[in-house]
Amino acid sequence: MKAEIGTDLEKAKHILLSDGIVAIPTETVYGLAANALSPLAVARIFEAKQRPSFDPLIVHVPDLESALGLVIEFPEPARKLAQAFWPGPLTLILEKSPKIPDIVTSGHPTVGIRVPDHPLTLELLRTANIPLAAPSANPFGFVSPTSAEHVMEQLGNVVPYILNGGPCQVGLESTIIRFEDDEAVVLRLGGAPLEKIEKIMGKPVKEIRTSSSKPDAPGMLIAHYSPGIKLLVGDVRVLLSQFDPERTGTISFNTRYDQVPVKNQQILSPDGDLEEAAANLFGALRSFSHVDVILAERFPDSGLGLAINDRLKRAAASR
Ligand code: TXA
Ligand code: MG
Repeated sequence: MKAEIGTDLEKAKHILLSDGIVAIPTETVYGLAANALSPLAVARIFEAKQRPSFDPLIVHVPDLESALGLVIEFPEPARKLAQAFWPGPLTLILEKSPKIPDIVTSGHPTVGIRVPDHPLTLELLRTANIPLAAPSANPFGFVSPTSAEHVMEQLGNVVPYILNGGPCQVGLESTIIRFEDDEAVVLRLGGAPLEKIEKIMGKPVKEIRTSSSKPDAPGMLIAHYSPGIKLLVGDVRVLLSQFDPERTGTISFNTRYDQVPVKNQQILSPDGDLEEAAANLFGALRSFSHVDVILAERFPDSGLGLAINDRLKRAAASR
């Protein structure tokens, strides 16, 4: 099978309503979607991604209203965050309704839910009128796709249709939040900046850093986002002295490294804008060929820089 890329919502809807899988655009990364209410359809996602069954999926809905129908309770702090961020890059972990099959949540009593901010996918969610379970549309452990072409490269043989919504505007997965006694806790840093979440909660928010084999947020496995090439994060100038610059790739915020061939350099934001850098990160991780090693800078520890550093650290640990 070779996937088709297009913008035919009717076709996407038809496949999804027949328990098939479709790759869908979101503002964060492309998702591999199936009807969240059909265990058979959801099983096809796990199979296509070679995803371990312990790693639960995020459910996508068109609005807060629809989310309310899939959970037992929507606590007040969750409502505040939903109102501030949805549609947008924030996933809330809430107690699931029995309507959500266990395969979606890997047996957890909770479900991750979000309203994605992409016109095509919102339209699809409204017209198909089913919630869509969708992990990032990459084989398990690899870099998430931020364009329809990325999905084609990695999953073109297992997904029949890729809904083309252009390049992802945010480019990093959603921030994941759960609640402990009505306190927000960050399980995964992502497209919704920590500072903004803290402002809405009115206090500092705890962040869980996991790396075990059965973590609270399995997307937080220490080795994830593999670019398939050795990656080191640190002071690029110092690291460069240890490698042949001709066979080295670099990822920088806005610095140019003169020893390195221009084609091996990924400058994520020449203007020094963290949002732009975030949107370009995953594409950059995929861009290297004919290099032995990728050297990446550490980004500023603020705004989306936190999530960028998190992804680089995990990409460096993979292999
Ligand atoms: O931006 C995103 O979140 C993208 C787009 C497609 O929406 N999706 C995404 O899905 O990144 P995925 O499967 O690559 O990561 C989802 C992660 C899981 O690995 C897990 O860490 C967490 O969400 N998760 C989902 N349900 C959970 C639950 N009930 N409890 C704890 N963590 C959960
Ligand atoms: Mg993923």
